[in-house]
Amino acid sequence: MEWWKKSVIYQIYPRSFCDTNSDGIGDIKGVTSKLDYLKELGIDVIWLSPVYESPQDDNGYDISDYRKIWDTFGTNEDMYELIEEAHNRGIKIVMDLVPNHTSDEHIWFKESKKSKDSPYRDYYFWKDEKNNWGSYFSGTAWEFDEKTEQYYLHLFSKKQPDLNWENPKVRKEIYDIMKFWMDKGVDGWRMDVISSISKYTDFPNYEEVSPDENYIGDYHTNGPRLHEYLKEMNNEVLSKYDCMTVGEAPGSTPENALLFCDKDRDELNMIFTFDHMDLDAKKGSSIGKWDLEKLDLVELKETLNLWQKGLHKKGWNSLYFENHDQARVVSRWGNDREYRVESAKMFGTILHMMQGTPYVYQGEEIGMVNAYYEIDEYQDIEIRNAYKDLVLDRKKLTKDEFMKAVHTISRDNARTPMQWNSKEHAGFTEGTPWLKVNPRYDEINVEEALKDKNSVFYHYKKLIELRHTDDLITEADFNLIDKDNKSIFAYERRLDEKSLLVVANFYEEEIEFEIGNEFKLDQYTLVLSNYDEYNKYENTIKLKPYEAIILKNY
Ligand code: NOJ
Repeated sequence: MEWWKKSVIYQIYPRSFCDTNSDGIGDIKGVTSKLDYLKELGIDVIWLSPVYESPQDDNGYDISDYRKIWDTFGTNEDMYELIEEAHNRGIKIVMDLVPNHTSDEHIWFKESKKSKDSPYRDYYFWKDEKNNWGSYFSGTAWEFDEKTEQYYLHLFSKKQPDLNWENPKVRKEIYDIMKFWMDKGVDGWRMDVISSISKYTDFPNYEEVSPDENYIGDYHTNGPRLHEYLKEMNNEVLSKYDCMTVGEAPGSTPENALLFCDKDRDELNMIFTFDHMDLDAKKGSSIGKWDLEKLDLVELKETLNLWQKGLHKKGWNSLYFENHDQARVVSRWGNDREYRVESAKMFGTILHMMQGTPYVYQGEEIGMVNAYYEIDEYQDIEIRNAYKDLVLDRKKLTKDEFMKAVHTISRDNARTPMQWNSKEHAGFTEGTPWLKVNPRYDEINVEEALKDKNSVFYHYKKLIELRHTDDLITEADFNLIDKDNKSIFAYERRLDEKSLLVVANFYEEEIEFEIGNEFKLDQYTLVLSNYDEYNKYENTIKLKPYEAIILKNY
């Protein structure tokens, strides 16, 4: 079996992980210094968000030199040392590949901008006229350049011009960068917005809005040559290494997911979908992700079920609730006060027992919570631009409405510094942290978690151990139980006669759950729970707030 199918991946956002030189920003030496902690947790792979040279307009997702480590993070030697030290401990390293766009300070773009005849001109998209495509970071996706009097395309910030993958030279440049790092020992790639690398090059206007409004829709992803490019990348690079790949794929569905990760298609190993994470956004809202509604548990189950069933035996799922673009799940969908520990463990349980490769985002393993800051305390370009656009300029939302959304789903919730201990700045830095530390660090930190045998940390450690020791979790079928139940998330993993049950109370009200007669509860034993004991009579389980249990019959 491929190694990444039995792996648990830990995502590090280096800027916020551990600062060893007191400049307030995390660094690579900081990551290396925490490898023993990660070994203790039991993870197999680290995914590092971008560490390359960058003006940091979007915290490193705007790269100006793909072969050089950003000096604030350290040196290339520090990175080689991290790879070696991780490998010494049996931990693999996956880097972040940002192939859809560069920084506007990358030499390719600087050259491209110089004139219409530049040999680098068609490394990017230049047009005389813009269409009504919107940028994910608000406003139009086109920026006018005075010098050559043309617009260039940027699906993200104007400092992130989109690369033109139609140009074979661009593709070769990216493949060479991949080889450069893989030859240094890197074990795979998380690929940023991979579903956007092929563009609809006739740049049609969106019909959904008028030509002078901005819109983000189907033309932003899954362009006509996407899978041709991925096949080429696989053939030129990936097939030559023992590596893993996970592509970030906005616009993915269980059906088109197989185009990326069907094991017989030789493209990627798995993708990150947004299907389940977008369920609390109002569908079709003109203000996008900031227009929220309450998560519907039945919809969440249905969505995850479609992905579990759709990819079973054909492709492979990546399992996540958190990353550097999502808020803390205990705050977003759980209870980050009275039941923080219980709900954090509940989310971990339902996620980690599904089929696929689970991702743990730094701090998730200790139940870190959202930051409820004032607008000026946030750094994220997405928050800042949306505030200006939606609240100040277009007045689509009041400040209160916007802040409510920011406190629930914005990206900086996940980017506050990692909480190591209860010393000043949570032990993250001895300088001034680039983003304020979450004030609850005194109570929620790694040192406390390691001391407490009932902590979220040890629950995650057990979930990870289970994945390593029980092949059923990797292989078995997934069957949702009582799919319309509005309070309970329950499913069975079945492999021949062997059956593993996960039953979770998604809310804080106590509830009784009668499981169908096809399950004989007295034949099941408890594997793991977030309470000391579990209560049942006959085929009914009495679930406490956020209680989540794993049972098995083998
Ligand atoms: C997705 C990344 O995860 C996000 O952080 C970034 O802002 C955009 N892609 C642009 O690179």
